[in-house]
Amino acid sequence: MLLVTGATGNIGRPLVRELSARGAKARILVRDPARAAGLPESAERVVADLTEPATLAPAFAGVDRLFLLTPGIDTAPVAHAVAAAQDAGVRHIVHLSSTNVLGDPMPAMGRWHHEREEIIRASGIPATFLRPGGFMTNALEWTGTIRDGYVVDPIGPGRFAPIDPADIAAVAAVCMTEDGHPGRSYSLTGDETLTVTEQVQIIAEVIGAPIEVRSPTSPEEAVRSRFPASAPPALVDAITEGFLLMRADTVGFRTDTVSQLLRRRPASFRDWCVRNADAFRPR
Ligand SMILES: NC(=O)c1ccc[n+]([C@@H]2O[C@H](COP(=O)([O-])OP(=O)(O)OC[C@H]3O[C@@H](n4cnc5c(N)ncnc54)[C@H](OP(=O)(O)O)[C@@H]3O)[C@@H](O)[C@H]2O)c1
Repeated sequence: MLLVTGATGNIGRPLVRELSARGAKARILVRDPARAAGLPESAERVVADLTEPATLAPAFAGVDRLFLLTPGIDTAPVAHAVAAAQDAGVRHIVHLSSTNVLGDPMPAMGRWHHEREEIIRASGIPATFLRPGGFMTNALEWTGTIRDGYVVDPIGPGRFAPIDPADIAAVAAVCMTEDGHPGRSYSLTGDETLTVTEQVQIIAEVIGAPIEVRSPTSPEEAVRSRFPASAPPALVDAITEGFLLMRADTVGFRTDTVSQLLRRRPASFRDWCVRNADAFRPR
């Protein structure tokens, strides 16, 4: 039995579909089953919360392989999941980490993920670490300002190679259903490096409407371009540090790991925009 956490998210949704297409026996850990609407019915739903260890035993019972994804900056949910995995005799963890763990010096965004990786390594359970760079879905945070005709760009000339979370999901499915991946770490990126201005130009072409690119007028406005609602202070500091690193063009590297593992090219940002065009159009 495979257990998928984060099943209602950007990576989890396509992962559950991919596992179902592969005929794998999968269970999803959800806080609210209503949010799993539209996912394959073949995936068994179990209600649990990774911040509440007492809820985890039923979700982990009989599980061989775990896909572990936790949002936010806390490391406790990973510790709780690993303890539950040890109790249940899980034999392999595929963990969603970040390329930021490879930074030297390691930025704050990397340190949280590094701590999570360390918790998993210390458990002794064989693991595969998936370390993606920035997601294409981060562009969805621009939908509010795009409806007003602009995007705030905190990174200027800096480039990065955005990855489609569906490609991360496809890699995760390979790691969970095929042999040879425990003990491996995979750095995952898309295969084109883009500036924010180039990303915005692609969105504008796909939706057929002009979008202005503006420099932020304050640090707060820069942070809102990534977290429009709000973010805890530690995350604000980390994303501000991340913008500086991106602006200095230190994260614009590409890997061919997705192509190697999937035997096809990663999705382009244009492909992703076409699939998600409605999100950017005026309501
Ligand atoms: N965005 C990037 O550019 C980037 C780059 C590298 C790495 N990452 C990493 O990628 C991960 C985010 O992946 P994503 O975009 O697929 O996530 P996402 O779309 O934000 O989804 C988060 C998932 O976690 C679930 N969840 C939240 N709190 C939970 C809890 N207490 N117990 C159980 N489940 C909980 C949510 O379920 P509900 O439906 O209940 O909310 C949802 O399924 C993070 O670890 C992030 O650091 C992101």
